[in-house]
Amino acid sequence: MPNKWTAADIPDQHGRTAVVTGANSGIGFVAARELTRAGARVVLAVRNAQKGAEAASTIQTAVPSAEIEVGSLDLSSLASVRGFAEWVAREHEGLDLLINNAGVMAASPRQKTADGFELQFGTNHLGHFALTGLLLDRMAGRDDARVVTVSSGAHRMGRIKFDDLQSERSYGRWRAYGQSKLSNLLFAFELDRRLRAAGSTVRSLAAHPGYAATNLQFAAAPRLDRMVMAVGNRLMAQSAEMGALPLLYAATYPGLEGGTYVGPDSFFEQRGHPKPVGTSPAARGEEAARRLWAMSEELTGLQFRITSDTSA
Ligand SMILES: NC(=O)c1ccc[n+]([C@@H]2O[C@H](COP(=O)([O-])OP(=O)(O)OC[C@H]3O[C@@H](n4cnc5c(N)ncnc54)[C@H](OP(=O)(O)O)[C@@H]3O)[C@@H](O)[C@H]2O)c1
Repeated sequence: MPNKWTAADIPDQHGRTAVVTGANSGIGFVAARELTRAGARVVLAVRNAQKGAEAASTIQTAVPSAEIEVGSLDLSSLASVRGFAEWVAREHEGLDLLINNAGVMAASPRQKTADGFELQFGTNHLGHFALTGLLLDRMAGRDDARVVTVSSGAHRMGRIKFDDLQSERSYGRWRAYGQSKLSNLLFAFELDRRLRAAGSTVRSLAAHPGYAATNLQFAAAPRLDRMVMAVGNRLMAQSAEMGALPLLYAATYPGLEGGTYVGPDSFFEQRGHPKPVGTSPAARGEEAARRLWAMSEELTGLQFRITSDTSA
């Protein structure tokens, strides 16, 4: 393993197709740009067409050879997730990388998605759960296909409130974020177990960026939180360029096992270069993962079809 892995170490990605959610901003934008630089054809999956077009144009300027497309995806609407997955299926014969990156943090007051889910659980977890279920068939049988789900150090403060998943009885903006990020990990590891059990060659991994200065800190949080985080961003955060490295490592490092979680290597995983890292014990809980999976299928109305690649 190289000592300090950077985007320059991404193996050749020519011939590979990637979908990156939330690719117009922050670490998703950097990940999309670096994947195109390595030769991948990248779909920027974004909810705002204008922001998507601007991001595509910036990438095209930085990487003139970039093969890039913009697709419309609002993870807070299951209809939009279905529409996007159908579009990908029509436009692309297969998919090699799915990077479940988009996210919203600390929304206040409590908000709901188009389908009535609490915004953070609905967007960060259920939207990506449904998206993955709908795109998995496109990944079957591809060489080194990977799903990378982006979590956070905040998963450590997360609890899955099985009796109040939508925080209807009691809402805390950070508790809801923690629950959504713990859900991301439970999902990623349960998907890995199910893929292995089915004999699939698709791998499911997870990553977190540490603390990176992006729009996340300003998109949905209340004013006081934003002010505190603005100071934190200046004093403690690393760049989005560095924050994207764990995603890119999880997506491309040769031979990485399914179920691996990648984060930064320094200062309590807040900054640095990527390496495999640990999780809270709760994130590896298999019973909770199965229960969350069943409830997520029920809520999204989507049954995963996980098969061995040969019979997919
Ligand atoms: N930055 C950090 O320190 C940090 C730490 C731990 C984990 N993370 C995780 O890293 C991921 C990326 O965050 P970031 O820091 O790069 O933040 P960011 O700059 O705010 O990017 C978030 C992206 O998600 C998109 N998004 C939000 N809601 C969406 C929806 N309903 N449908 C589709 N896209 C949606 C945003 O689109 P718009 O531009 O249209 O809003 C944006 O493109 C998140 O999952 C976050 O939880 C970040």
